Amino acid sequence: MAELEAIRQRCLGCSGCGLKDTRHNVVFGEGVPGTGLVFIGEGPGEQEDMTGRPFVGPAGQLLDDMLSLIGLSREKNFYICNMVKCRPPKNRDPRPEELASCMPWLREQLEVLDPKIIVCLGRISAQALIREDYRITREHGTWVQKDGVSMTAIYHPSALLRDPFRRPETFVDLKNIQRRVMELCPGLIDPDSLRYSS
Ligand code: URA
Repeated sequence: MAELEAIRQRCLGCSGCGLKDTRHNVVFGEGVPGTGLVFIGEGPGEQEDMTGRPFVGPAGQLLDDMLSLIGLSREKNFYICNMVKCRPPKNRDPRPEELASCMPWLREQLEVLDPKIIVCLGRISAQALIREDYRITREHGTWVQKDGVSMTAIYHPSALLRDPFRRPETFVDLKNIQRRVMELCPGLIDPDSLRYSS
């Protein structure tokens, strides 16, 4: 999509915050634009920084595997990006000023992507996009309607790598997300691709 590519080209030269000094690559986002479904993580990790692609490390592999169970893949039916486009050193949380300085890029992306559903991956994006005091442990999997978009959050896949006992709750959330996608984005999920249906 030309509009998104134009934003990406500008974003690649961003010097809006201190993360520009330590990044190897700007990780803009990837996937299929215009499907109505967007996943938003926190910020690139080491492998993402080295490759310029979001969620390609261990957490991303887990995420891809889980999403494939409900018929979703970034090659076919959603777009994925992060709150901050450059890696925070040693994978620390992005600082408020880094989140603030990167937000206009996300806003531009979302303007073009025009999602019907946004899934926040983890606390950082849920607090930035849903509610400042969002409690991921209590509220994951619940839905809010904001500016005409259905929004929810699930545990960050890194948290699921650290604590596999949280995975069953996430599968319940994913099943819910699958239902919402079928409702709001009819035809997006190919029934033949399903390994897990509700
Ligand atoms: N964690 C994130 O939040 N985003 C990535 O792209 C990779 C790991």
